[in-house]
Amino acid sequence: MVVGAGQMGAGIAQVAARAGYRVLLNDIKEELVEKGLGVIRRNLERDVAKGRLAGGEMAETLARIIASTRLSDAGGADLAIEAATENMSIKTAVFRELDSILPREAVLASNTSSLPITELAAVTGRPEKVIGMHFMNPVPVMQLVEVIGGLATAPETCDLVMEAARRMGKTAVLVKDAPGFVANRVLMPMINEAVFAVWEGTATPEAVDSIMKLGANHPMGPLALADLIGLDTCLAIMEVLHAGFGDPKYRPCPLLRQYVAAGWLGRKSGRGFYVYEQGGGKA
Ligand code: CAA
Repeated sequence: MVVGAGQMGAGIAQVAARAGYRVLLNDIKEELVEKGLGVIRRNLERDVAKGRLAGGEMAETLARIIASTRLSDAGGADLAIEAATENMSIKTAVFRELDSILPREAVLASNTSSLPITELAAVTGRPEKVIGMHFMNPVPVMQLVEVIGGLATAPETCDLVMEAARRMGKTAVLVKDAPGFVANRVLMPMINEAVFAVWEGTATPEAVDSIMKLGANHPMGPLALADLIGLDTCLAIMEVLHAGFGDPKYRPCPLLRQYVAAGWLGRKSGRGFYVYEQGGGKA
């Protein structure tokens, strides 16, 4: 079961179903599940149009995804991947409920980008079977799954989840539980520093992004990437780093806070460091 049919959950369901897994795609409302399924359908149609997928395989992949609006549907699941909102109380509520529904041997993974796996595990009766399975955005394209072992996670759980990620065509890399894990501990301070450069008037967003694209061979500049990830998510991760390490070097840039307060969240709200047309194209 994939819990959460948003940007990340839909992507995870897509790669899992393509790999042959039967997937329950769950969200709290039917419209949200339908929206996620629509994203998956469009992605698969593009793969068919590009000759990467046969029409029959697309139909088979879609048939392996079952819509769900109740966590109780997970009664027969071997693995649950939670990709709900990045909010500890929402995630702990989902983990508690899933723990009471899933078979005893099932593994409970979170796609959290920075919340502590050890703390999520502690609300369940199976901390040895709780793990982080952090996919990158956009899920169908990005190679990495950062696998995070909590304090109590069993080695067999790590092996199982790394094998599942490999079956989904990804490269899994194992790390220990620590604030921001590794991906966001390294990536987010770079994005935050790019925001500082704009805030201080050192350079425009376009200039910052050109410098990192052309000068460091990044596929997109840090501010365009922040817009893709969501500025609210970037801010939340900086807060986790700041609180988790207690080190002022992780303080979020005031401009990042201001954009989030203004509702300028990046692509998903139509405006962040850039302005987007409906459908996501940069205007
Ligand atoms: N879903 C599915 N496929 C997508 C997609 C999406 N959302 N976005 C792009 N693609 C596909 C395109 O269809 C295209 O495929 P083809 O070449 O086969 O046609 C391919 O990706 C390349 O796309 P584009 O040509 O449109 O554009 P691009 O070459 O600039 O690539 C990109 C787009 C893949 C997003 C690239 O710019 C990139 O890799 N950017 C960096 C992304 C990144 O760093 N992600 C990590 C974010 S951090 C994170 O996720 C962790 C966290 O916790 C916050």
